[in-house]
Amino acid sequence: MEKFNIAIDGPAGAGKSTIARLVAGNLGFVYVDTGAMYRAVTWKILDEGLGDEQTAEMIALTKRTDIRLTPGENGQTVFVDGRDVTGLIRSAEVTGNVSRVSSIGEIREVLTRKQKEMAAGKGVVMDGRDIGSHVLPNAEVKVFLTASVRIRAERRLREIADTQPDVSLEQLMQDIAERDRMDEQREVSPLKRAPDAVLIDTTEMTIPEVVDRILELCKSRIGGG
Ligand code: DC
Repeated sequence: MEKFNIAIDGPAGAGKSTIARLVAGNLGFVYVDTGAMYRAVTWKILDEGLGDEQTAEMIALTKRTDIRLTPGENGQTVFVDGRDVTGLIRSAEVTGNVSRVSSIGEIREVLTRKQKEMAAGKGVVMDGRDIGSHVLPNAEVKVFLTASVRIRAERRLREIADTQPDVSLEQLMQDIAERDRMDEQREVSPLKRAPDAVLIDTTEMTIPEVVDRILELCKSRIGGG
């Protein structure tokens, strides 16, 4: 099959990263987790000790920070200025601050530019919140994944069971609903389904079912081969 780009958007916990990685593996494409890029910048801002009001410094820091994503054993390895931050960017502290950082327009511009560059050669599966609507409006295949808040919280709970055993389902449901609200209501590039994105509700679907659905979509859009 010739190379093309796939944009996968949707709220936290809808299964985007797992699905996107599997689709990419299946097609021999490169997986780009844009949430990890926002998390990487957030980690760097916290690491440098920048305060809430230091927006100009945050933007300058984003511009001079080198973020690299490379395929690793368990998904993607994330490097910030050469340091492996793959585990660090999933901390509760980063998760609690990333919506605020990602609502800063100039930071989004810097990362959007990097994301467009990564997809320029095609053959990319990119997941995020604004990929089909803003970053890659010409992506050949666009998918919007969703699922109920409860099922998304249950999935997240399983993911973090080993590392954060004290977190409750109720807490996660609240956090997820709050993060959805912030992602949907921010002024710059809010989480929004592109009009031409195919909506897939994964609440009652297994991971292989969702992957198959997207691969079928690719065949029908691109004409197989
Ligand atoms: O998918 P995730 O939970 O790792 O994303 C982390 C945060 O980054 C989430 O609050 C939304 C934000 N994000 C964004 O604003 N735009 C993207 N393209 C990807 C993520």
